[in-house]
Amino acid sequence: MTWLITGGAGYIGAHVARAMTGAGERVIALDDLSAGVPSRLPADVPLVRGSSLDGALLERVLAEHAVTGVVHLAARKQVAESVAQPTRYYRENVGGLTTLLDAVAEAGIERFLFSSSAAVYGDPDVDLITEDTPCAPVNPYGETKLAGEWLVRAAGQAHGIATACLRFFNVAGAAAPELADTGVFNVVPMVFDRLTRDEAPRIFGDDYPTPDGTCVRDYIHVADLADAHLAAARRLSAPGASGDLTVNIGRGEGVSVRELITLIGEATGDTRPPLVEARRPGDAPRAVASAARAAEELGWTARRTVREMVDSAWRGWQLHHGG
Ligand SMILES: NC(=O)c1ccc[n+]([C@@H]2O[C@H](COP(=O)([O-])OP(=O)(O)OC[C@H]3O[C@@H](n4cnc5c(N)ncnc54)[C@H](O)[C@@H]3O)[C@@H](O)[C@H]2O)c1
Repeated sequence: MTWLITGGAGYIGAHVARAMTGAGERVIALDDLSAGVPSRLPADVPLVRGSSLDGALLERVLAEHAVTGVVHLAARKQVAESVAQPTRYYRENVGGLTTLLDAVAEAGIERFLFSSSAAVYGDPDVDLITEDTPCAPVNPYGETKLAGEWLVRAAGQAHGIATACLRFFNVAGAAAPELADTGVFNVVPMVFDRLTRDEAPRIFGDDYPTPDGTCVRDYIHVADLADAHLAAARRLSAPGASGDLTVNIGRGEGVSVRELITLIGEATGDTRPPLVEARRPGDAPRAVASAARAAEELGWTARRTVREMVDSAWRGWQLHHGG
């Protein structure tokens, strides 16, 4: 098998490339480097600089490298930006996927993994979100992921491609400091950013109907997420694999923002009390995955703890930002 990883120089893509090459798979990365960092990739992974919107390039890359499976991670991923620039998000996330699936079908590739998101669910009022919980995204980013899933399944059915849509929950941590997320869009780097600037971490709302009043999320270590990709790739490569698979990728355990900030205080040694501010519009009180289907279908379960996520993310933050 030779796998093309789109968005391969990104935070998650580089971890997937490392897990797959470590397990003996051949990998090619495609990335437009709008957010990617080439040095994150293992030395034996060729990087093609280009966009998932460039059909001619995709056809050439798939043929030249005799690609037999695709892991599609390339996308814009900032919720607030998607609210401000919806057409850009539909063009790049859905348009890029359409172009890629055309090239995949044309090349006769039979395996396709799509990085979806817990954002497809919106704000469901349930204890554990299963894959059968109705999808009702509340922002254009989540909409592009849900539309992407529809497109992936339809193209899979039409062209005989075995597909998997992996719905990632809150990704954190790093397998090595140089692979860490360099953006400041998720809660862990946002807290590090505050501490590095000698400011107290912020909690947006402590009056939610949760045990300590702060929002509860399901955090997944990026190295576990990479292992889940490998398990899904293997599952799609099994003889006679067909059809489509949709699975949550989470730990199945909720951690509150206050608990997370306590863990960050322990990792950084900076235990100043957080400032409690007003709720942010659009934050659901609780979003925790049921991890049962991933265990059943992929034989995969998350192994790393939230403490390991925070500790490894902090080592990455110190490398990239000081602190
Ligand atoms: N990080 C999370 O918590 C999270 C959660 C759920 C889903 N996801 C999804 O996982 C995927 C990867 O996210 P990430 O956190 O690694 O983000 P990232 O920004 O680090 O990685 C995305 C990569 O794709 C590249 N890229 C973007 N648009 C492209 C295009 N049109 N053509 C080629 N390359 C392009 C960027 O340069 C970047 O390297 C995204 O699809 C994202 O929506 C991420």
